[in-house]
Amino acid sequence: MDALVAAGGITGLAKNATLIRNPSLVHSQRFYAKAMAWPCPKGLILNGAHKRSSAVAFWGNNQEVIDAEARLLVNTYARVPVVFVRGEGCKLYDAEGKEYLDFAAGIAVNALGHADPLWVKAVSEQAATLAHVSNVYHSVPQVKLAERLVDCTPFADKVFFSNSGTEANEAAIKFSRKYQQVKAAENNSKQAATDFVVFTNSFHGRTMGALALTSKHKYRAPFEPLMPGVQFVEFGNLEAVKKAVRPGSTAAIFVEPVQGEGGIYPAMADFLQGLRDVCNDAGALLVFDEVGGLSSQTVILLHTLVTCRIWGCLLIT
Ligand SMILES: Cc1ncc(COP(=O)(O)O)c(C=O)c1O
Repeated sequence: MDALVAAGGITGLAKNATLIRNPSLVHSQRFYAKAMAWPCPKGLILNGAHKRSSAVAFWGNNQEVIDAEARLLVNTYARVPVVFVRGEGCKLYDAEGKEYLDFAAGIAVNALGHADPLWVKAVSEQAATLAHVSNVYHSVPQVKLAERLVDCTPFADKVFFSNSGTEANEAAIKFSRKYQQVKAAENNSKQAATDFVVFTNSFHGRTMGALALTSKHKYRAPFEPLMPGVQFVEFGNLEAVKKAVRPGSTAAIFVEPVQGEGGIYPAMADFLQGLRDVCNDAGALLVFDEVGGLSSQTVILLHTLVTCRIWGCLLIT
């Protein structure tokens, strides 16, 4: 058994696929037509046996899948060269039946373990009942889940669901701007605060707004110019925050109470309390990005949950 400690990966399932037509990336349009209509003779075949053994008929061995992926998928991640075909609890199995211990847990998104029987039952039952309705309709499971989240937290009034951590941050950016606009209108002010203060080593996601709040140069550089009005301040330096935050200009401070992507750097309690005070004085919102890991201390420090992802939270106060 090998231990899997690999970092890096995708933390959600693709809801929509973006097809890229670019001669340097794919062979031809005909290739797509063929791929979309492929009867998949060597595709993934799961039967009852996969639960007891690695008897999973797959495309091929690890290397064959990796080679096929290199041809077919846009290359956005430097992945570890292993192909997982099934999981059970904390164990994963590759395309050749090799067993691994999963210490990565999808990077904080598979906290229940793989193929958890209760999760499988709940998902199967719901899929067999009603899989999806548009957001323009009401839906019972959404309300039930929101009720559970609000009931089990001491600070939450409402929940905003999103598909990924980066979308939770996009929503928080928009909530912050909207909040400041409403406040400006109430105060008969023509100018609403629009800017953001964020920290060195921060990671808030890869979509354009969240990326603008993310510090890593190599993530930002290919997509510049990003959203303007973002100021980076040294993580943990409250004096620098006080200088950066300007009443009437700063809409919100975004902070990870425990920085994940940038290294495991926890913020001190007095720093977080200091941020709260600075925001109160400036009329700015404080956003805690806990997508990477929810820490109970920070939950206790806060009061109002506005947006939330099931495996991680984004808190706006
Ligand atoms: C603190 C933090 N914010 C946002 C994100 C982005 O989440 P996602 O990959 O689901 O978009 C992550 C992902 O690791 C994260 O750790």
